[in-house]
Amino acid sequence: NYIKAFAPATVANVACGFDIFGFAIQEPGDTVEIRRRDEPGIVIADITGDEGRLPRSAEKNAVTVVMLHLLKHLGRTDFGCEVVLHKNMPLGSGMGSSAASAVAGVVALNELLGSPLSRKDLLPFAMEGERIASGSAHADNVGPSLLGGFVVIRSYTPLDIFSVPVPEDLYCTLVHPDIEINTKDARYILRNEVSLKNTIAQMGNVAGLVTGLMKSDYELISRSMVDVIIEPVRSILIPSFNEVKKAAIDNGALGCSISGSGPSMFALSRGIENATKAGEAMVRTFAEVGIDATMHLSGI
Ligand code: HSE
Repeated sequence: NYIKAFAPATVANVACGFDIFGFAIQEPGDTVEIRRRDEPGIVIADITGDEGRLPRSAEKNAVTVVMLHLLKHLGRTDFGCEVVLHKNMPLGSGMGSSAASAVAGVVALNELLGSPLSRKDLLPFAMEGERIASGSAHADNVGPSLLGGFVVIRSYTPLDIFSVPVPEDLYCTLVHPDIEINTKDARYILRNEVSLKNTIAQMGNVAGLVTGLMKSDYELISRSMVDVIIEPVRSILIPSFNEVKKAAIDNGALGCSISGSGPSMFALSRGIENATKAGEAMVRTFAEVGIDATMHLSGI
């Protein structure tokens, strides 16, 4: 009658793969507790760690919207439960915060119902949480948060998602500067048209990154962590973006870009020492312009 589930933060886009690449990190992440109750319907009993900012109504919060969709799909609208959400990451951080809540929620509910669906089948429900939170049902945060590791969304209609193996010695440094960017706004400023020249460059890097990951070719990973479409537009929202990126690369990172829709920035490095050095340099560079930043180090 009681289930507790954890879902991790994620890095979406991974430089060149807007809306199609994402990977999970170990920590932080959100935790959801659900408890069965006799009356039908879902009630949010408590939310911690959000400074009172998230909606408390079940129809408006990503964590419960996904549960309502799942109950409807299973024809279990008679079911009732009470939900407690523990948010362990900032909102509007580019760390897949809404995705972690949605995934933890849908996993907990599925478990409480006796696991009628497989993990992968929960994905479309978790995506509905993203629709509520950011206006777009992208899967590059919920996918890896649900399945772990590095995932590719080859197609959205129909949904086709698969995992890519990554080299053992690959580490991620995720650095969160203390500012907030709303994913909806960060999507709104993007251009709808892309030139053929940029499409070719981006496709080359997408192919290069996947191949580099699969062959443990760190040089190829490094050369492929280039985004000619999204990063030039969004980076203007992040103070000292170019300096922070340069600091990461000068201090041993293979590459560095925006995590999801930002403002967090991530670097990939070979080995934990390089990842630590790169992250510390990124934090120092933000500090030079008076921005506090928090670093999270993780294997992938
Ligand atoms: N692919 C999405 C975006 C991820 O960049 O808007 C948001 O976290």
